[in-house]
Amino acid sequence: MKIAITGKGGVGKTTFAAMISRLYAEEGYSVLSVDADPDANLALALGFPKQLIDEITPISELKNLVAERTGSSPGSFGTMFKMNPKVNDIPEKYCKEYNGVKVLTMGTVDTGGSGCVCPEHVLLKALTSHLILGNKDVMVMDMEAGIEHLGRGTAKNVDAFIVVVEPGERSLQTYRKVKKLASDIGIEKIFVVGNKIRDEKDKNFILGEVETAHCLGFISYNSSVVDSDRSNLSPYDANAQIKEEVRSISNKLKGVIK
Ligand SMILES: Nc1ncnc2c1ncn2[C@@H]1O[C@H](COP(=O)(O)OP(=O)(O)OP(=O)(O)O)[C@@H](O)[C@H]1O
Ligand SMILES: [Mg+2]
Repeated sequence: MKIAITGKGGVGKTTFAAMISRLYAEEGYSVLSVDADPDANLALALGFPKQLIDEITPISELKNLVAERTGSSPGSFGTMFKMNPKVNDIPEKYCKEYNGVKVLTMGTVDTGGSGCVCPEHVLLKALTSHLILGNKDVMVMDMEAGIEHLGRGTAKNVDAFIVVVEPGERSLQTYRKVKKLASDIGIEKIFVVGNKIRDEKDKNFILGEVETAHCLGFISYNSSVVDSDRSNLSPYDANAQIKEEVRSISNKLKGVIK
């Protein structure tokens, strides 16, 4: 199962990606979480100790690896390179693991404008499309905010796209854009998770904008998530209610992507 988490800036993509990764690990899945946001902070949200985070080398910094696999020369742009680089050994070699979750960080890529196809993005795209996962394997991708990655198609071959929204018009507008662009490139499995929910009004606001069948569930606004962020802990360990909410979302997801 491969899922990509997207949405407007600050809605809780990384928080949710970390929580669902931890849940799958607890359920006995082998979990690979890919931080595809140049402003990477997924490992922090997974509770990785700072020292271990420092040991993570983002793929984009492995210039020779990117060059070797894509057949490009380091730093080259706009030249010909392989569109189907070999990737199967990359997770094992370059990830770090903590709490049962393996993390791979893509790092900062000089995109040169939207829709750019540079070797680093080709490598990421190949990871999402060619990594062969067993039925007890899960790949969770924490995407950068907004819709630019859809133009590059980096997460084209996932089983589900989850758009995290808040009870507010702006994040729902991002959802509508994601839905439109995704269906343009053939991704139909777009789902919504409502985050930072305070009451029924918040839920109903989201349900008024999203088809019920596409809404996987809700996560309450929870000050322990903020506290865990402040203390560098995983929000998954923050409290039992949040765990239950994420479990319910994950169960619904398993049902819809079968
Ligand atoms: N359910 C929640 N309750 C309270 N605070 C939350 C909740 N979910 C996320 N937050 C807080 O919202 C902020 C943004 O969360 P997060 O970093 O996960 O968002 P993001 O969508 O990944 O942001 P970015 O677009 O910068 O990558 C953080 O301070 C986080 O602690
Ligand atoms: Mg984030």
